[in-house]
Amino acid sequence: MELRFDGRCVIVTGAGNGLGRSHALEFARRGAQVVVNDLGGATSGGGSDISVAQQVVNEIKEAGGEAVANVNSVEDGRQIIECAMDSFGSVDVVVNNAGILRDASFGKMNDEDWDVLYRVHLLGSMRVTRAAWPHMRKSEYGRVIMTTSAAGLYGNFGQANYSAAKMGLVGLGKTLAIEGASKNILVNIVCPTAGSRLTASVMPKAVVDALKPEYVTPTVILLTHEGASATGRLFEVSGGWVSETRWEQTQGVFFQDEFTAEELSSRWAEATSFENSRHATTLGESKFGTKERLGQEMVLVPQ
Ligand code: NAI
Repeated sequence: MELRFDGRCVIVTGAGNGLGRSHALEFARRGAQVVVNDLGGATSGGGSDISVAQQVVNEIKEAGGEAVANVNSVEDGRQIIECAMDSFGSVDVVVNNAGILRDASFGKMNDEDWDVLYRVHLLGSMRVTRAAWPHMRKSEYGRVIMTTSAAGLYGNFGQANYSAAKMGLVGLGKTLAIEGASKNILVNIVCPTAGSRLTASVMPKAVVDALKPEYVTPTVILLTHEGASATGRLFEVSGGWVSETRWEQTQGVFFQDEFTAEELSSRWAEATSFENSRHATTLGESKFGTKERLGQEMVLVPQ
């Protein structure tokens, strides 16, 4: 059965180009009312050009779909959500996708390179989602996507600012999945690779052409559909390949009494052996040491 989004308002940030554009077109084709948000700036950030978002809106309308263009920066998330409410009267799906790059090796990275990346990726995703949150809680319905990057998950030379912000989105997504659960708000994290103007500077043209953004969109559609159930999970997607990534923890070693670095050294191979590894999915599950020491799973309750 076709996964439809009729009557659903979907906000896609950074939807004027690349991945966001592909997501927006597909949501609209499936009946969604789409807010096509895009600042219309350069890959390094800044600028303001409504024609970039408007062009995607025009494409959607020409195909018989419904969409509105929005030129606010994701840093002004509240205005983006107001635009959605004014235009369509609800907020059902938020795809946090807007992004920029300011690559520089760490020694040459200045504060502005760091700040602007943090602001667009992490602060922007937080602000858009936070503005959507009360509407989603009220309607007891919401689907949110965070767009992370392999640069965050694995590190990448020259991208300390980008990888830190992108990994921040993993933590943000995982916590919001927990906080949204009781209100039917599902939050997942997608780690794409695709040819786009953003990656054209680091990928050969043949690779850019082969890794179509359209290969990433079905995962976003499936995770944000009303029939979805996955939440707090991380998916790596590119070039027609779809996979899930999770944490892996060694069994580790446990010392009954206080121990020295030398004693640890003698058991280091055991501590770091992935034989019979574990895949904790919650904070409590992962704290094996506290379970051993306290005899119960640890639950952190803000005092
Ligand atoms: P893109 O450059 O083609 O599209 C990003 C869009 O975001 C642009 O149209 C830009 O104007 C918009 N944008 C930038 N700053 C904005 C702001 N403050 N407010 C609103 N819109 C803004 O890039 P691409 O490749 O489609 O990237 C989309 C997302 O996917 C980004 O978050 C990127 O970091 C992430 N990503 C992309 C990968 C790839 O291989 N293309 C790999 C991993 C992550």
